[in-house]
Amino acid sequence: MWIVLTKMELNRETIPQYLRERQVEIGFFDSGADLHSEEIGDGNLNFVYRVSDSTHSERSLVLKQAPPYIKILGPDYPLSSERLTYESRSLQVYNQFVSETVPTLYYFDGDSAVIAMEDLKDYNLLRDELIAGNVNQTIPVLIGSFMGIVHSQTYTDNLDKTLANKYQKNFANTVMQTITADYVFTFPFTNHETNYHTEGLEAAVNRLKTDQQFLKQADELKSVFLRVQRGLTHGDLHTGSIMVKGNSAKVIDSEFAFYGPVGFDVGLFWANYLLSYYSHLDNTKVQSEIITAIIQTWKTYTEHFKMDLSLKHRTLQMIFSESVGFAGLEMLRRIIGAAHVKDIENIEDIHRKLCVETAILELGKTIVKERHKIASVDEMIELL
Ligand SMILES: Nc1ncnc2c1ncn2[C@@H]1O[C@H](COP(=O)(O)OP(=O)(O)OP(=O)(O)O)[C@@H](O)[C@H]1O
Ligand SMILES: [Mg+2]
Repeated sequence: MWIVLTKMELNRETIPQYLRERQVEIGFFDSGADLHSEEIGDGNLNFVYRVSDSTHSERSLVLKQAPPYIKILGPDYPLSSERLTYESRSLQVYNQFVSETVPTLYYFDGDSAVIAMEDLKDYNLLRDELIAGNVNQTIPVLIGSFMGIVHSQTYTDNLDKTLANKYQKNFANTVMQTITADYVFTFPFTNHETNYHTEGLEAAVNRLKTDQQFLKQADELKSVFLRVQRGLTHGDLHTGSIMVKGNSAKVIDSEFAFYGPVGFDVGLFWANYLLSYYSHLDNTKVQSEIITAIIQTWKTYTEHFKMDLSLKHRTLQMIFSESVGFAGLEMLRRIIGAAHVKDIENIEDIHRKLCVETAILELGKTIVKERHKIASVDEMIELL
């Protein structure tokens, strides 16, 4: 008989006991199975483990635990473990509407902030595929439909008041939303201590930080991000939150999920394709494939976004122009803020890197400032 602990810190030693204690609820492995655990998480915030049956290694699951602090910084940097509650709630909604595009959720333990989910074995991060120049056109179709379905199925105008209120309440993820508001919308454009950029970008960065028209738009977008409550938004849908294998794509890491302006997802997804676009500076084949992927994302999104036709056109126009603005800010903060991306950081030749980053700053700034004048994806692409 095992005694169930309320809070348990997972590590390679404690995981077998943790799973045995929850044999009834999870029931994934045989009760006598010899379990092997390894840490696979390369993220900043949480611990992620793969657990497999030593005698049937094909049988495995993934455990993700949120400590009450930021993993890479340690216990001196507290952060509410509730973030996994939001990840599990959003995974439930995703499993309801778009189960093929997310890992299956096996179990959630709110006391220890642990999720047990399907092991996406042999999947790679979409970011790494794009860095390698592998642009699979099925992926934007899958992610475009993922977003279109989730956003419209949870969209306030499509729901009765009770259900809309329920989503609002279940996804009031204000702690994580505040972090994003700071790190995407504010800090990168001030002299915040966490900012850094390549030497040589100073003039461009100063121009950006003193551009009143830009700052006004960034502020407006921040207010949209914080105030608008329209649909279930993943909140961190960059190419490192998507795992792919062949023609399959799975969205992970939804701990930032909130009820908000859904265009934030479209914007982040586009921005990370655009960052990849610029990183492939002189590879016109990959660049044109990325452009096709960006166009395809919106086409699929609009096809899967179900709404009464009298409202649909206007709603999508609004989502589009917010997406464009969010995309611009995401591109900028990945060059001058606290969290950069491998696609760009990997560029060793400093002149090439500066050239790529200057182009990204220019496009990011332009699409934030001009977002109301950009009427279509084609018009956005023309600015590249
Ligand atoms: N279900 C899964 N199957 C296989 N691998 C996974 C799974 N979930 C996560 N991983 C791996 O673990 C890594 C970290 O996962 P995740 O991004 O969810 O963690 P995180 O700590 O929240 O990261 P971040 O700091 O980016 O927020 C992923 O990049 C992926 O390599
Ligand atoms: Mg995460």
